[in-house]
Amino acid sequence: MIGLFDRLSRPLLRALDPEDAHNLTLKALRLVPVARAPADSPDIAVRAFGLNFPNPVGIAPGFDKGAQVADALLRLGFGFVEIGTVTPRAQPGNPRPRVFRLEADRAVINRLGFNSEGAPPVLARLAARAANGGVVGVNIGANKDSADRTEDYVRLIDTFAAVASYFTLNVSSPNTPGLRSLQQVEALDDLLARVLEARDKVRARVGPTPVLLKIAPDLTLSDLDDVVGVARKHGVDGMIVGNTTISRPPTLRERATAKEAGGLSGKPLFKLSTRMLAETFVRAEGAFPLIGVGGIDSGPAAIAKIKAGATLVQVYTALVYRGIGLLAEIKSDLAAALKRGHRNSLAEMVGVDAAEMTAESWPA
Ligand SMILES: Cc1cc2nc3c(=O)[nH]c(=O)nc-3n(C[C@H](O)[C@H](O)[C@H](O)COP(=O)(O)O)c2cc1C
Repeated sequence: MIGLFDRLSRPLLRALDPEDAHNLTLKALRLVPVARAPADSPDIAVRAFGLNFPNPVGIAPGFDKGAQVADALLRLGFGFVEIGTVTPRAQPGNPRPRVFRLEADRAVINRLGFNSEGAPPVLARLAARAANGGVVGVNIGANKDSADRTEDYVRLIDTFAAVASYFTLNVSSPNTPGLRSLQQVEALDDLLARVLEARDKVRARVGPTPVLLKIAPDLTLSDLDDVVGVARKHGVDGMIVGNTTISRPPTLRERATAKEAGGLSGKPLFKLSTRMLAETFVRAEGAFPLIGVGGIDSGPAAIAKIKAGATLVQVYTALVYRGIGLLAEIKSDLAAALKRGHRNSLAEMVGVDAAEMTAESWPA
């Protein structure tokens, strides 16, 4: 049903303002019954951070910021859903228009700026669906006008611990001024110490909840040395590489739209984010698993992420251009790649190309 809706509606949705189209898609997922996707082949199941994933393909945060359609997304066949970014208090984000399609580049620029309903309604929705199971991670961020940003993350850990399969600390959105400075070594050291302490405090009540760190693809390699070093020192459960980029690759064709401020996602982000993933993998030395995200638009692109070091992957922008059919295509390509390579599990493919990739010239 939703597949048919998807096919019929995509040309219509692409004619609308991107944010209106997005809101209409969320509404459809809330109202149109979603048939359950066929069960995944056990070959592509993944275990990471102490959690079991039926397949490694998740939907990236930003799609369902308010946890309105997490169950519909799981029924569509995503291996996991990451909701958010959620901030403690409601805030409107930046003025519209704030999402722009770069059609010819298969890309999007957004400067939403953490538009968030705030924690209470999102918590209520997650609590109402908690018994349904599935991996639903909660991506958390600080309010724009917060006096103590680190305290916002700490509060959100306490608020959502009972309903979050895992947490992602979003310190990499380019659209909240100053947020990315939390990736600097002293601020990050303090953030991770306080957040992991908060997580350990609620452990007796809710059990262990993995905490992952999502970084920007725009870090320098010496910043990345520091970030991975601090993440290892504190024993974070994983890293996500990465968020949108503030860079504008010279290859972009939609030159006028490319001038809009905000974070670029989609196909032109693939090379940079995959290189940063490989760089993170070689620095992590197996201390924790990684989630690869940025520009995945096909099965081969997802396989390249895994070979660069991703245990799990996430998609967002390509769904705008390719529709939900992309998900089944990626999963079947992953199963076929395992057979072709005579491998028993995806884990055997993780990072096999990472060292070689880090020796290549820097992607343009
Ligand atoms: C419209 C839009 C909104 C986003 N909002 C968030 C967000 O709230 N939190 C976050 O961590 N990432 C957010 N992202 C970034 C995505 O999660 C992802 O890291 C990025 O888009 C790269 O993946 P992609 O090329 O497959 O889209 C957003 C991306 C887009 C396009």
